[in-house]
Amino acid sequence: MAQLNIGVLVSGSGSNLQAIMDACDSGALPADIVFVGSDNPDAYGLERGRKAGIPVFVTDYVGIRKTFSQDPDSVHVPSDFDLDDVLAKQRLFPADHPRRKLEDYFTLRAAMEKDLLDRISVYSFDLLVLAGFMRIFSPYFIDRITTDRTRPRIINIHPALLPAFPGTDGYRDTFENGCKVGGCTVHFVDYGEDSGPIIGQKAFDIIPGDTLDTVKTKGLALEWQLYPECIRLVAENRLVLDSSGRKTVVTVLPESRP
Ligand code: GRF
Repeated sequence: MAQLNIGVLVSGSGSNLQAIMDACDSGALPADIVFVGSDNPDAYGLERGRKAGIPVFVTDYVGIRKTFSQDPDSVHVPSDFDLDDVLAKQRLFPADHPRRKLEDYFTLRAAMEKDLLDRISVYSFDLLVLAGFMRIFSPYFIDRITTDRTRPRIINIHPALLPAFPGTDGYRDTFENGCKVGGCTVHFVDYGEDSGPIIGQKAFDIIPGDTLDTVKTKGLALEWQLYPECIRLVAENRLVLDSSGRKTVVTVLPESRP
């Protein structure tokens, strides 16, 4: 089986990155991590990458946003940015959202995403792995990574059993809603928020006495198992997308026997 080259993006502690690095080292995951990038210069995940001798970089989302808020015209909008195309595809805002706000949002996003694209384009990678990367991608970015709809190239882990509780705080939403089961989901990234085709999920019981902290601890422990397992399925070419129904769904092909 060929090795998969993966790039990983983090915003925080990078415990999922660590689980992926460990799986690569142990041979459980036939992959090489070719870069670790972050929008947060203080992300501990960058330190994990450095310690492992992996190239790391920071993309300047914060600086670009600041420049945009001071003088929108001074922000470098990529020459291949097509606002109408992005607005036609995006599924982050309702269709009746004010056009002016959509223009500002997606123009700024494209400027930020171009910076990220420039940094990752120096590496050769098969799969972009979001491991606690707290930014949403617009169609501008997604289309430049996923050029064949049948083979998406961006994958994310989410701290809830999607499609329940998309957004930034899945374990809190799960706990505060009194759910009796929590979990995590690995999915391909599409034009919506945490709405892409589901690759794998793991669940845990929430029992009397559990707190938000214990729920997070149980969930993260499962994430560290689930993410390498799902990336392995990509490496083994075992995921098939079916877009014939209301939603695109993923079928996992059985393991091929030697
Ligand atoms: C995880 O809970 C992941 O599901 C979510 O962000 C958290 C990242 O944790 N997207 P870490 O940085 O991998 O420790």
